[in-house]
Amino acid sequence: MNKSTRGQFGVSLGDVERARLELKKYLPSSPLIFNPWLSEAMGCEVYLKLENMQPIGSFKIRGATYKISQLTPEERRKGVIAASAGNHAQGVAWGSKRLGVSALIVMPAVAPIVKVQNTKALGAEVLLVGNNYDQAFEEAQKIIRKTKRVFIHAFEDEKVIAGQGTVGLEILEQLPQVDYILSSVGGGGLLAGISTVFKNLQPKVKIIGCQAEKANSMIRSIHKGKAVVLDSADTFADGVAIKRASEKVRKILTPFVDDWVSVDEDAIVAAVLTLLEKAKITAEGAGAITLASLDLMKKKVRGKKVVLVISGGNIDVNVLSRIIDLGLIRAGRRVRVNVVLLDRPGSLAALTALIARQGANILQAIHDRNEPSTKIDQTEVALTLETRGPEHSAILIESLRKHVLRLELAH
Ligand SMILES: Cc1ncc(COP(=O)(O)O)c(C=O)c1O
Repeated sequence: MNKSTRGQFGVSLGDVERARLELKKYLPSSPLIFNPWLSEAMGCEVYLKLENMQPIGSFKIRGATYKISQLTPEERRKGVIAASAGNHAQGVAWGSKRLGVSALIVMPAVAPIVKVQNTKALGAEVLLVGNNYDQAFEEAQKIIRKTKRVFIHAFEDEKVIAGQGTVGLEILEQLPQVDYILSSVGGGGLLAGISTVFKNLQPKVKIIGCQAEKANSMIRSIHKGKAVVLDSADTFADGVAIKRASEKVRKILTPFVDDWVSVDEDAIVAAVLTLLEKAKITAEGAGAITLASLDLMKKKVRGKKVVLVISGGNIDVNVLSRIIDLGLIRAGRRVRVNVVLLDRPGSLAALTALIARQGANILQAIHDRNEPSTKIDQTEVALTLETRGPEHSAILIESLRKHVLRLELAH
């Protein structure tokens, strides 16, 4: 290989290339697909690197499997242990199963059910401890002192970073003319790997680190010039909820990342919904942060070839259904209203007929004659209505307002 810019923590292009050779034994490249709808909406060529399509639903399979494949026979006999809120847990479980190694995973008790179940289904032993990653991490350290299992760190590990970096090598093969790469950052292992590849082979490609505003430990660390610890990392994007930034990873990212973007919770939720609806892709919050970030920087990347790493798709279906609900309400396509009618025969029928004439669909109607705040001759109806969009909703609400005694928008 030609000249290699070695990251300060010691991850080189050669390390990532070795990881690629090894991982080819277990995993095909993940797809990189052009999305016409997002490209039109964002004013650039949008390509999605679909790590949600990995067997465990996230890129974490790469680093964990590569790390386990590099253990000595003695280390493999001892077994491995990891602390994780979910995706790394599944990566370690998958890699361990594939390589015949025993795995113990310490997960916070609040980890998403889908991630706990999947980790167990892959044959790992799961211990649920504490309320966050840090507490699970502490517990894992105590267990290591007793059992001598090998700890597989989720991001502060050269082999893990080299494994995650294979995402970058694949992008380079699949779209050599790429201009921008956006990747979400929790601990930063994924971006450390990807940026190591590009800053060695294609340094002109702009690398953008994307974080949830509520868990922006790496962005703050970069600004401060040293790793920080947040008081909380309470984001819906649970995959990137890291309070304690790694100084070693910060040192890799500082020279390699061209720009940083942070996004709020609403933007992440909206991005999950957009990916689902417009690209037919199931992304979890952490996986959709890149799309939310692109929305903030679309003027800058006009006409460029932009790769969004969709890093994971492990989202609980109950959460997904709430997101769809909320997203439709925010987009003005679902309306919730409470109306008060005269308690007369035919009142409800007249109301539903009006809604039908307006071309809206009733998703739910709760007719409550015992609501304490309504008068004796009145009744309240709580309606959830499906509309064609904000204009249609506004017209519908106006005509309902004229028809009923009182109307309140419910949120
Ligand atoms: C879906 C998803 N995206 C992004 C990340 C962030 O990865 P890293 O910690 O390597 O920055 C994670 C970490 O678990 C994740 O699960």
